Amino acid sequence: MRGDVFHYEGGHLATEGVRLSDVTDTVPTPFYLYAVGPLVERYRALDRAFANSRHLHCVAMKANSQPALLRPLAMEGAGAEVVSGAELALALELGFSPSRIVFSGVGKTERELVAGIRAGIRLFLVESEAELHVLDRLNARAAAEGRRAPVALRLNPDIDPKTHRHIATGVSAAKFGVDPDTARNLYRRHREFSHLEFVGVHSHIGSQITSVGPLSENARVLASWVRELRSVGVPIRYVDIGGGLGIPYYGDDTPGFTAYAEAMLPHLGDLDVEILTEPGRVLLGPIGAFVVTVLYMKTVHGRNFAVVDAGLNDLIRPALYDAFHRVVPLIDKDTPISNVDVVGAVCESSDVFARDRELPGLERGDCLAILDTGAYGFAMSSNYNLRPRPAELVVDGAAYRIVREAETEAQLVARELGHR
Ligand code: LLP
Repeated sequence: MRGDVFHYEGGHLATEGVRLSDVTDTVPTPFYLYAVGPLVERYRALDRAFANSRHLHCVAMKANSQPALLRPLAMEGAGAEVVSGAELALALELGFSPSRIVFSGVGKTERELVAGIRAGIRLFLVESEAELHVLDRLNARAAAEGRRAPVALRLNPDIDPKTHRHIATGVSAAKFGVDPDTARNLYRRHREFSHLEFVGVHSHIGSQITSVGPLSENARVLASWVRELRSVGVPIRYVDIGGGLGIPYYGDDTPGFTAYAEAMLPHLGDLDVEILTEPGRVLLGPIGAFVVTVLYMKTVHGRNFAVVDAGLNDLIRPALYDAFHRVVPLIDKDTPISNVDVVGAVCESSDVFARDRELPGLERGDCLAILDTGAYGFAMSSNYNLRPRPAELVVDGAAYRIVREAETEAQLVARELGHR
């Protein structure tokens, strides 16, 4: 825990000098709490690692769209990777300049594509020939006179990222991107799309990738595409290497930003391209904690359970991917350790945040933090079981504040009834 964003100070879990137990004295659980300072530090470290190249880091908004986190990144000069009309609209609202926005996603609607065209975004990451035709037609109608829409095809390079199968995207069985033969054919026919400009290549092979090997292979493949495409007259300016760098959920070792850049740049550094990256988890994951309270302790057939006041509707990663998140008490108690399953209140047997963890003897009312939940935590929350979604707080400087109130039961009931 030493050096972590969340660590113990005098027996209390804290970040940026703020004790989480002080927060729970005033804010009811469950809530997500994010540390802004460490987020900005992480962004700067990533940026420094790529300092010797032309580059733009486009933060993957799907990991966490909380404005209090995205605004400081926009101010640092980050770009945004968006996958929906609302993400695009929010990115613009938060001050990401259109020239720093890339639009990916396997099923963009015409309305979303037109919004991207009107905004004048940096790059459309196109997933199929059919999408190219739609974008070409829409751009002819919606774009400023003569302005061609900048596109990169998303390649499916069939690289195994060695991660959970639900978050492997560049393998041949995945729905994402176009295969190499199709891509080659489309790039060669680029002049047929008179309202598009083929300026980039792109591939995002998956998420939570914990060794640089597959990422480096992806960069190597993309670099060979740049050479090949330029040799047939396609004016490639951008290489978008996607996101995917993993974080140490187990407190183990994963590649840092320097190792990541060192694995990418040898392939791309001499190509005279702008390198685009789309980091999500690696920036946002470690800076968030999900704070819950133990409602009940119980033992069933000899197994100990801590039932907490949250559920898979708030944090679905363990249920969906068997994901591991460290769970730690807000106050480090000197009581005997026992093994417990930390479980949620939702009526699903997969509603288990953590299995068989060694924790100091827990009691009703004790608070726990589920760590590394800044990415794909709140962003994937829902109202399943008609449960209000939790609050979001940030620690900024030495103070904390609520940046999104928890939903209330009354709001949910009114919505079900169709009331405004
Ligand atoms: N770019 C594209 C095109 C993506 O699809 C994604 C994530 C990213 C960038 C950002 O990837 P990252 O750097 O965060 O790995 N819900 C899952 C993760 C799904 C990732 C989806 N795409 C989870 O909780 O593990």
